[in-house]
Amino acid sequence: MSTVSPRPRRSCLAVPGSSQKFIDKARTLNADQVFLDLEDACAPLAKPGARKTIVAALNEGGWDGKTRVVRINDWTTEWTYRDVVEVVEGAGANLDCLMLPKVQTPEQIHALDLLVTQVEKTMGYEVGRIGIEAQIENALGLTNVNAIATASPRVETIIFGPADFMASINMKSLVVGEQPQGYDVGDAYHHILMSILMAARAHDKQAIDGPYLQIKDVDGYRRVAGRSAALGFDGKWVLHPGQIDAANEAYSPAQADYDHAENILDAYDWYTSEAGGKRGAAMLGDEMIDEASRKMALVIAGKGRAAGMSRGDRWTPPTD
Ligand code: GLV
Ligand code: MG
Repeated sequence: MSTVSPRPRRSCLAVPGSSQKFIDKARTLNADQVFLDLEDACAPLAKPGARKTIVAALNEGGWDGKTRVVRINDWTTEWTYRDVVEVVEGAGANLDCLMLPKVQTPEQIHALDLLVTQVEKTMGYEVGRIGIEAQIENALGLTNVNAIATASPRVETIIFGPADFMASINMKSLVVGEQPQGYDVGDAYHHILMSILMAARAHDKQAIDGPYLQIKDVDGYRRVAGRSAALGFDGKWVLHPGQIDAANEAYSPAQADYDHAENILDAYDWYTSEAGGKRGAAMLGDEMIDEASRKMALVIAGKGRAAGMSRGDRWTPPTD
């Protein structure tokens, strides 16, 4: 089980790369990640100009600890190589990851890795520093998700792209995030979410949920984010500033759970030590804790630390 959250990504803000206004606004928002989009939020005729706008925006800075990502176009288009060359040559030193949409095979990740490596070498950048975020948006991508996750050490996240996914499997619905009409047993997205989550956890990657398109319905956003957060996802896309707080909240532990997790870690550390009696299992209040409790606590504590939470009530070792 992974307990590592290499970069904060509770809220991943989508920003059209062709809009200077939205880019400037994005700098002021408290999203963990910003991704400047060259793909679907950017019209074909606007893509060449957007590459330049994005390079300038990354180099100007002001991103304030945010994870800086650019979504390029997928390999079935004619735009991908130029997206990579222009963005990485122009702003590679100020870029954390490239997001590759509609990934279907591990070879598509290899191809991106090779191209980025070439640009890094040419420009004298550290080779391998720029990560890859892989968006799973169709059936072939999902069946290959484990191979995609391990195709390159650059892969940091596996992302569910619900809108394209629903279209690609002919799902009878237009409402992203809601259940398709007529399916009245369980959650139609459960298998997809779990497959992505298992690949992510098996290979130490982050699992990220995709967009919720009803941007005015923050309660709806909370409900859908709450589901993937409950499963173990690390974050979700936000399309509007109004969704950011809901995402940051949904993917952070509750304060009481965070405090409890830190206390389990402290108590277990002490009870397994010489001073605490070298015990494998011990009581914390009315609760028995052991190595498995420690592993669960590490997950919650890791999410809380990544979210910058501070501890409330602290456990202290017994004095007698
Ligand atoms: C995002 O890219 C989606 O297709 O949902
Ligand atoms: Mg998509």
